[in-house]
Amino acid sequence: AFAGETAKINSANEYLRKNLPSHLSLPKIAIICGSGLGGLAVNITDKVELAYEEIPGFVSSTGMEWAIWVLEDEAFDASLVLTIFCTVQGHAGKLVFGVLGKNRVPVVCMVGRFHFYEGYTLKQVTFPIRVFKLLGVEVLIVTGATGALNKQFKVGDIAVLFDHISLPCLTGSNPLIGPNLSEFGKRFIPISDAYDFTLRQMAFTAAANMGLPTGTLKEGTYCHVIGPSYESKAEARFLRDMGGDIVGMSTVPEVIVARHCGIRVLGLSLVTNAVVMERGRSADPSVINNNARDEAPVSHEEVLVAGSAREADIQKLVHDIVDLISHD
Ligand code: 6GU
Repeated sequence: AFAGETAKINSANEYLRKNLPSHLSLPKIAIICGSGLGGLAVNITDKVELAYEEIPGFVSSTGMEWAIWVLEDEAFDASLVLTIFCTVQGHAGKLVFGVLGKNRVPVVCMVGRFHFYEGYTLKQVTFPIRVFKLLGVEVLIVTGATGALNKQFKVGDIAVLFDHISLPCLTGSNPLIGPNLSEFGKRFIPISDAYDFTLRQMAFTAAANMGLPTGTLKEGTYCHVIGPSYESKAEARFLRDMGGDIVGMSTVPEVIVARHCGIRVLGLSLVTNAVVMERGRSADPSVINNNARDEAPVSHEEVLVAGSAREADIQKLVHDIVDLISHD
């Protein structure tokens, strides 16, 4: 199976090298667009777009194979099969190749990413990262939406990832589980240096130069959860008390696989909502001072609206960071 994994990564690499027009240089920077941030690709010029389903090994096709496999297993509920087909259709995405910024840096942008909660394996979720490595990518800029655990992080703030806490990775859902692909990296790798200092500095420089209000960009620790249900209030207090500033359902698996193969990483997360975490009202009549109010629960719509409100700023920020990287 693992010789198979390397072969799949190689064939995606070969496919892309064959199918990209020869005037286009291979990408040096990869950008992953999170929920509601698909517009990050608009500034790219000399664009060539390739749908995931046409690239060997990319998950829209493996997801489909999996659904067919489930169909053949009569023990499975038909509604589950339907859900998988819908997921595959709803989340089909594309790679956008082209050049970005005044130094015309060759980049590749993932519009649409894969989440563990959709039923993909972590190998599928992180597959594109190793393909990018073979294409020559040196820097990954990964974006996403998050909720604020830290009260100082406000809706519309952009968090520069400083560190992470991943209960899934600590407890058995780590993308590097399985035989080590030693052509990409070592068996045991540090994560203490995952979030590149120079790239983080460039993010702050770019934010200041473009006039983002001071305090909009914040350094934060990203708490990784699987989802798709949002956190309970007690879980949210637990994550905050552990040291998390923001919480989200993506990013960390891609970061770990990028670090495994030596790609430098910058993580940017848009704060789309304040996480609901206060205890709320008790139903027990003997409770005194029971005047807590229940906060409104989070909705996916709220998350998407906040994403679109800051979309232009994040686009410009990423654009300016790419200029700084290529000037380096
Ligand atoms: Cl509140 N939680 C999680 N896990 N992910 C989010 C979020 C919250 N808001 C945006 N993404």
